[in-house]
Amino acid sequence: MNHSCKSTDIEPFASGGDNALNSVHTRYAALRELSLGEDAARAWLSQPELAAYLAMRSVSRQQTFLAGRIVLKRLLLGSRYGGRSAKELLVESRSVMRGHGERPVLSIARVEQPLSLSIAHSDLGVLVAIGDATTTSVGVDVVAQGAIKQHVAWTFTAAEREWISAARDATSASEELWARKEAFYKACQRGEGFQPAAIEAVPGRPPRYSGNVLTAELLCLQTWRVDGHVAALVVATPRPAVAQHNSQVKTRAA
Ligand SMILES: CC(C)(COP(=O)(O)OP(=O)(O)OC[C@H]1O[C@@H](n2cnc3c(N)ncnc32)[C@H](O)[C@@H]1OP(=O)(O)O)[C@@H](O)C(=O)NCCC(=O)NCCS
Repeated sequence: MNHSCKSTDIEPFASGGDNALNSVHTRYAALRELSLGEDAARAWLSQPELAAYLAMRSVSRQQTFLAGRIVLKRLLLGSRYGGRSAKELLVESRSVMRGHGERPVLSIARVEQPLSLSIAHSDLGVLVAIGDATTTSVGVDVVAQGAIKQHVAWTFTAAEREWISAARDATSASEELWARKEAFYKACQRGEGFQPAAIEAVPGRPPRYSGNVLTAELLCLQTWRVDGHVAALVVATPRPAVAQHNSQVKTRAA
């Protein structure tokens, strides 16, 4: 399915969890549909990824880590990396300098590939996005029903609270706003941590990120429903980290 995406309108997808937006591709998979044991890890993961997977103490974290890489690699192997094996692809998403999460980066034989990647997981599924890093920075999020707890309510701005109060279903409106905030963060961050209160993502209004209205930088914003989740995709212009050392990433157990 192809879409041109030049506005910030919400365009729910009519079917499935996959879409292609010009050069941006997304794919959703339910965890129950994937084989996520150690045999699958050994078949799909590169050596550094496997070491990170084996060091993880939580089985559910192992599963989401592996699922994100399987779904991403399926997309990559099905397109421009068709001649490669899954184990040659290394997807890293942890900062060497700061030890916390970074935008995922794909390397092959130590050469960083010019792709913008994003991964989001829930307890039920995983959503990934791939774009061309020379023209885009992508961010995705999936929020399962009931996942947004009361303790994050303070992060909604006055305009977001107004939008939630006017919605027919306040819970589902909160989930949609949260998905948009995280997708914005993943696409637009330049090395800073996630500050949900600094992101305003009200449907039909220009989005704000850390006090700036994102207009020229925002290429696409879409939300849709998939497998009981609300999913969000943000595509922005390329967003290199402000401090160069922050872009050095490696895979590490969470
Ligand atoms: C990135 C962040 C915003 C989202 O994390 P999350 O909701 O825990 O997890 P998600 O499944 O949506 O995303 C995780 C993926 O995002 C990617 N990611 C991590 N840090 C990232 C960053 N700084 N920028 C872009 N992508 C990032 C990684 O690929 C990661 O998957 P991996 O570790 O398997 O490679 C995280 O930094 C964070 O701060 N989370 C807090 C979430 C929270 O407060 N939730 C409360 C809900 S009630």
